[in-house]
Amino acid sequence: MFAVYAESFSPDDPLSGMVVGERPEPDVPDGWTTVEVKAASLNHHDLWTLRGVGIKQEQLPMIVGCDAAGIDEDGNEVVVHSVISDPGFSGADETLDPKRSLLSERYQGTFAERVTVPRRNVVPKPASLSFEEAACLPTAWLTAYRMLFVQGGCKPGDVVLVQGAGGGVSTALISLARAGGLKVLVTSREEGKRQRALELGAHEAYETGQRLPTTVDAVMETVGQATWLHSIRSLRVGGTLVTTGATSGNMPADMGLTRIFFLQLKVIGSTMGTRGELASLTSMLDATGVRPVIDRVLPMDQAREGFEAMASGDLFGKVVFTR
Ligand SMILES: NC(=O)c1ccc[n+]([C@@H]2O[C@H](COP(=O)([O-])OP(=O)(O)OC[C@H]3O[C@@H](n4cnc5c(N)ncnc54)[C@H](OP(=O)(O)O)[C@@H]3O)[C@@H](O)[C@H]2O)c1
Repeated sequence: MFAVYAESFSPDDPLSGMVVGERPEPDVPDGWTTVEVKAASLNHHDLWTLRGVGIKQEQLPMIVGCDAAGIDEDGNEVVVHSVISDPGFSGADETLDPKRSLLSERYQGTFAERVTVPRRNVVPKPASLSFEEAACLPTAWLTAYRMLFVQGGCKPGDVVLVQGAGGGVSTALISLARAGGLKVLVTSREEGKRQRALELGAHEAYETGQRLPTTVDAVMETVGQATWLHSIRSLRVGGTLVTTGATSGNMPADMGLTRIFFLQLKVIGSTMGTRGELASLTSMLDATGVRPVIDRVLPMDQAREGFEAMASGDLFGKVVFTR
């Protein structure tokens, strides 16, 4: 079948190991279902995979892609939940399973004609969402939902700072925070992206690193090194920083430790979300009319163009591939 896959890794030139070609049809273990992919969306995770992060050499070749929406074996329109827990895991929160993986880490990913997942890893797609919109939800939007409303404990009226404006997770954070009744502050390196963030619903937009006029209740961090200290400095006493990514690196020169203990800040990690949270997210979008910002839709055989745009940071919102 048609597939976009990693054949080799390169930390510095990730696209050199990517192949747009053919892979064998997936195996379908007992209890798993095959989803015919209608749309899939690109995440920074896919670039990390091509860089060799989170995957071992012996797992190559690996079809990339975490996110998909499509049609299952019974003809249902579904969204794929990308967190695959270990068959022996019995807890309620799959993200806490130490043996969990995301599609494209241990099991083949979604940038293909078909993907197989455990039956419980599909969630009904509301009719009001297109396949392209639904394909944006399983990683970036689910991550943003959990950061804000689960790990961050944000409530209507809270003030939240979103670091970065143009990314898949950050555009989701802006839209969901606004829909959840929060006051939304955002930073970006580019004036054009700051403007678009305001149009998307942010109340205030600042240059990356600029001192804010007020402290905030919570900061949503996906950038890492480049914004970490600013995030710490922006929090009120007892505020919460939720961290889920380190796009710019994971070694800030100054972690702001003194401020963390003296102001009794909470620093909380967050990863993806549960199947139940994905179902809540799809219901929220169905009810509110909030929709993912899509930077561009490309046929899957033109995936390279989308990867190049993400690698250069030249995006506002999600890149979606269609079949
Ligand atoms: N733990 C999880 O479950 C999970 C899930 C999803 C994503 N993530 C991680 O979260 C990060 C974002 O993912 P994504 O898919 O949203 O990626 P993306 O679409 O490429 O977004 C990158 C974002 O980072 C900002 N940025 C990048 N370099 C920066 C720098 N040097 N200084 C300031 N801002 C910078 C950009 O902001 P501007 O261009 O507006 O300045 C943009 O908002 C990735 O590291 C990804 O691996 C983790």
